[in-house]
This record gives sequence, structure tokens and C-alpha cells, in this order.
Amino acid sequence: MKNDPVIAIAGVTGAVGAEFIATMDRRGFRVGKLKALASAGSAGKTVDFRGQKVTVEELTEHSFDGVDIALFSAGSAASRKFAPAAVKAGAVVIDNSSAFRMDPNVPLVIPEINGRRIRDHKGIIAVPNCSAITALMPLWPIHRENRIRRVILSTYQAASGAGAAAMQELLDSTRASLNGEVFTPKVLPHPYAFNVFNHDTKVDPETGYNEEETKVIKETRKIFEDELIAIGVTCVRVPVLRAHCEAITFECERPITEDEVRRLLSTAPGVKVVDDRIKNYFPMPVDASGQDDVLVGRIRKDLSDPSGHSISMFVAADQLLKGAALNAIQIAELLPEPAMA
Ligand SMILES: NC(=O)c1ccc[n+]([C@@H]2O[C@H](COP(=O)([O-])OP(=O)(O)OC[C@H]3O[C@@H](n4cnc5c(N)ncnc54)[C@H](OP(=O)(O)O)[C@@H]3O)[C@@H](O)[C@H]2O)c1
Repeated sequence: MKNDPVIAIAGVTGAVGAEFIATMDRRGFRVGKLKALASAGSAGKTVDFRGQKVTVEELTEHSFDGVDIALFSAGSAASRKFAPAAVKAGAVVIDNSSAFRMDPNVPLVIPEINGRRIRDHKGIIAVPNCSAITALMPLWPIHRENRIRRVILSTYQAASGAGAAAMQELLDSTRASLNGEVFTPKVLPHPYAFNVFNHDTKVDPETGYNEEETKVIKETRKIFEDELIAIGVTCVRVPVLRAHCEAITFECERPITEDEVRRLLSTAPGVKVVDDRIKNYFPMPVDASGQDDVLVGRIRKDLSDPSGHSISMFVAADQLLKGAALNAIQIAELLPEPAMA
């Protein structure tokens, strides 16, 4: 179509970049022309897009002439360096990195929760951290009805959250381990095969919290527009290839039952209840992988709170999709027509 937008993908050769392309295809997202951008090392490679080979170009300040929407997933440093040039060239930037998330001038958007915030943008819209999205998708429908005053959550984060190279490292280190060979980690700080370790972001020496945990706390408050919500969080990597899981316990202001939670979640967009106690079938990464929906189950009363205000549940979500590419494309779909024309 003549007026279909020109889309740039910065980080097109990465794990999220590949899902941008697949998600645009799956959803029939209108694209007039695709500009495929990555580091200098990938320039000249090609990516497949709608039956055509698109040549990858090096991401520079000059990459954005004529671009309507720039989807960024090339890391925070690249976003900080190149997103302002994209905005200056007239593009709307949808950024998957953490570079601008806490900037008061940048909307931090999960369309099912605060899509209305898109209209406040001044050129950049941020996609929240994937662990935050995974938790907030099922917490929001509850919070809206009966304010959540406290959340305790623990993540079980997959290799895919650390990019394509981390996924390869999990495969290679597992193979080496099964063959009894020594494997020296290159991407992640610890041996990954048959291991669990603290999230690979920096740990604050004062608080003991890693950066992933701090992001979940700050971003939840910004997205829910609730500075008082109390959050305790532990983020770890598990040797799963794709899709994050989270064990979540939350406490509401008024008493709440399992049935109410199940009822609220059963009609929540982007959430699917998977909660079969008889068959012992609950959310798993293998089922969440490749799915748009956030899977929620093990919905049960938190027995440590006899007052009846607290519920525990277990969640699995494909963080390359709802935690990154899908959430970004959903934002792009909500942009007003001028940005899409
Ligand atoms: N993985 C997830 O689940 C997830 C979820 C939410 C947000 N994110 C964010 O999305 C971004 C990418 O994640 P990913 O998992 O896709 O990582 P990845 O698989 O390692 O891919 C990184 C991509 O960025 C490109 N890149 C890196 N440095 C660049 C530079 N200086 N200039 C131009 N391109 C550069 C790489 O190009 P080359 O191939 O040429 O090196 C590659 O295309 C990160 O900011 C990450 O925090 C990821």
C-alpha cells in the first residue's frame, strides 16, 4: 500500500529482532519498506522479510531518513546513541532497552494496561523490562479491582532473555557437560548447564539487589502509577532456553478469593489461565514459548496470610514476544494514523 509506514529495526540480527519480523508477519502489520539495521559486523548479511531478502545495514545516525517507526532492540548503549537521531529524523522510536524507561518524558507502555499513555510521547516510547511485563499482565486486572498493596515475586529467567548468544551458550554448555567436557562460559558469568544463578546484571553493593530486580520495582510503580505499591523481588537465571516463569504472591487491600482471581484473569486480554490441579498441569516455559498470551496457574490462597488478603500464583510467558517484540508491535499498532502514514 502506498502510505504504509517505513519501519526500521535496529538490532535486526538479534533474538528480539527476529521476533519483530515474525510478529509483524503474523499480525499482518502494514510495512511499506523495511530497513534492517545492526552492527557493522552484520552489514551486508540479509534477513528474510515477506519473501524478500533485505540487506542489513550498519546502524548510524544517518539510518533514519524517511523512517516512520524505528523499533530498537540493539542494547541500551545503541538506543542512547542512536534513538535521538531517529527522533530528529521524524521517526517514532519504540525502544526495548532500559535506556529511557524511567525518563519522565517517555511513556512506559504495556498496551493492555496503560495504552492511553502512548499519546503522551515526545518521540520515544519504551517497552518495559520483560520480567515486569510478565508479572504485571496478570496483576493489573486484579489491581484495578482490588488494589494490590504488596507483591513478592521470584523469577526463573530463560537464556533467551540474555539474547541469541546466551541461548547458544546454554546449548553448547549442556552438550559439553553431557560429553564430560570442560566448558568455559563466554556470555554469562557462570556455568549455565544444570545450574541456577543470580541474574547476570550488576548487584548494588549497598542494597544487594541486582539491576533486573530494581527495574521490576521501579517500572511497576511507573506503569501502575502507584508509588506506594510494596515489591520484594528475586531474579535468577535457570537453564531454560526460552520463556520466563515467575512465582508471585500478592496482598490486596480488601480480602480476595481464588475464585475472584480466576474470574478476573479468565477475561483479561493477553492472559490465559492454565490451572488444572487434577492433571497437575500448570504454566510451563515449553507451553509459553511462541505464545502471545501470559499463562497463569497454581492460583491459590497464600496460607501465610490467614486474613484472606493474599493469593499465590505461577506465571510463564515468552519474553521474546510479550516481553519484547509483541509488546512493541502492539504499541506500533496503536500509533495514530499520521505516524502510520
Ligand atoms: N531478549 C529478550 O528477551 C529481551 C527482552 C526485552 C528487552 N530486550 C532488549 O532488547 C535488546 C536486544 O536484545 P536481544 O536479546 O535481541 O540481544 P541479541 O540477541 O544479543 O541481539 C543484539 C542485537 O543488537 C545489535 N547490536 C548490538 N550492538 C549494536 C551496536 N552498537 N550498533 C548496532 N547494532 C548493535 C546486534 O547486532 P549484531 O548481530 O551485528 O551484533 C543484534 O542485532 C537489549 O537491549 C535487551 O535488553 C531483550
